[in-house]
Amino acid sequence: MDAKRLRWEQAGQGQVFKWFDKLTGDQKKQLEDDINEIDVDQINNIYKKLLEDKVTQKINLTYHGFENVKTLDSLTDEQKTRWQSIGYQLVSEGKVGVLLLAGGQATRLGTLVPKGQYDIGLPSKKSLFQLQAERVLKLETLVKNHFKLATIKPVQWYIMTSRATHDPTIKFFEDNSYFGLKKDSFFFFQQTMIPCVTPEGKIINESCCKVSLSPNGNGGLYHSLVTSGAIEDMRAKGVQYVSQYCVDNVLIKMVDPLFIGFMHDSGSDCAAKVVAKIDPEEPVGVMALENNKPCVLEYSEIDKESKYLREANGRLTFNYAHICINAFSFEFLDRLSKEGRTTQLPYHVAFKKIPCADDAGQRINPDANNGWKMEMFVFDVFPYSKHMVCLEVDRSEEFSPLKNNAGMAVPKDSPETCLQDICRLHRRYIERAGGKLDDSNSNLIEVSPLVSYAGESLESRVQGHQFTLPHHIE
Ligand code: UTP
Repeated sequence: MDAKRLRWEQAGQGQVFKWFDKLTGDQKKQLEDDINEIDVDQINNIYKKLLEDKVTQKINLTYHGFENVKTLDSLTDEQKTRWQSIGYQLVSEGKVGVLLLAGGQATRLGTLVPKGQYDIGLPSKKSLFQLQAERVLKLETLVKNHFKLATIKPVQWYIMTSRATHDPTIKFFEDNSYFGLKKDSFFFFQQTMIPCVTPEGKIINESCCKVSLSPNGNGGLYHSLVTSGAIEDMRAKGVQYVSQYCVDNVLIKMVDPLFIGFMHDSGSDCAAKVVAKIDPEEPVGVMALENNKPCVLEYSEIDKESKYLREANGRLTFNYAHICINAFSFEFLDRLSKEGRTTQLPYHVAFKKIPCADDAGQRINPDANNGWKMEMFVFDVFPYSKHMVCLEVDRSEEFSPLKNNAGMAVPKDSPETCLQDICRLHRRYIERAGGKLDDSNSNLIEVSPLVSYAGESLESRVQGHQFTLPHHIE
């Protein structure tokens, strides 16, 4: 540790060792483990680059609206069926994998367990992980039925976790027998942790014997796919497309075959689902072109004038909100690593309250923002796509994220809104299929994913029936 300590001191980060000489053997080992995970020069360089970017940041006038968008609602039934069939075919051949981003710290939700274990209060009490797994199971059944096959290759599921979520996530799937999916179809891998720094660039101690580490952002995905061996696993298993989503979108259509069929048919290497902005001021990142390359323009980056800019048909120029449902070709992911992009993605900063050590080395929770969390974002690879396409979907059918804790004065992206959105969608499924609901006592209605993936095949179960809520169709 002496050589390492010297190296850190030379790099201007010796403060991390402030309490080191007085630590017990175990505590020293704990700090050493953290230190060994950190490349101190890399951290200094990331910080330096972020500072430079801050100084030179200005509104970039080379942004244009992203136009390569198909709107689901405006497709003919024939078109939808065609893309769906292509997607089914690819799934049946084991060529589509699913990639889950589940390494976040869920600080706003504030749970002690991984977000995927959260129960939003459906009648079934199912966790987000269970809903997702059952949607995959159902999709496999639909594909089997479509081609009248007894078996198909299972959909491969790649789950990115981080230090805090890794073991509990695996245990949760194990304890629940993988919700009926095959254990072999899962690949869990951890993303890298990165230290938080003060605004002056000093690495923060969480306590005398711990560095304050946080996951390196969901854009850490690309590098970890390589270092964990996940990309080689995809290659070996013949996965050609990867359908990526976030753990907290309760409406996620797992491995949506239409989306994958659309991507395949367009010959694209990178695709995103988007939703129309509610209004110009909605604080979301939007699809854009910078120097003719696709990108996401963050809410903080877009100037007032551009926010309100409209096309001749009245649509906002920067209309398409990125909702973190993406798909990549295997070739694209592989190329990113071969071209060295995975280690060159930009970092973004969030100024936050970072738990830190007081003078005595005890962990405290600060009252005010005190440090930078540095993160890479999953969408920062879009500029490297050779041909990117987007599919505009209906927000009420596909996007309701769980971000905040229950009990907000005006609930937003919270357990309450997620529950309301899923029940509203399932009500629509039932009513479309000819069922009726008596909601005089409750609004809670749930359709098990094992019964219907996205509202299909419900007629025989619900037509002519009236259900008293709460009710779970299972
Ligand atoms: P968010 O940025 O909303 O973060 O993640 P979060 O961890 O869920 O919540 P807060 O900000 O701490 O309250 C969007 C998605 O990206 C994943 C999350 O797990 C979620 O699925 N993510 C985020 C990662 O996988 N790794 C990260 O480092 C950050």
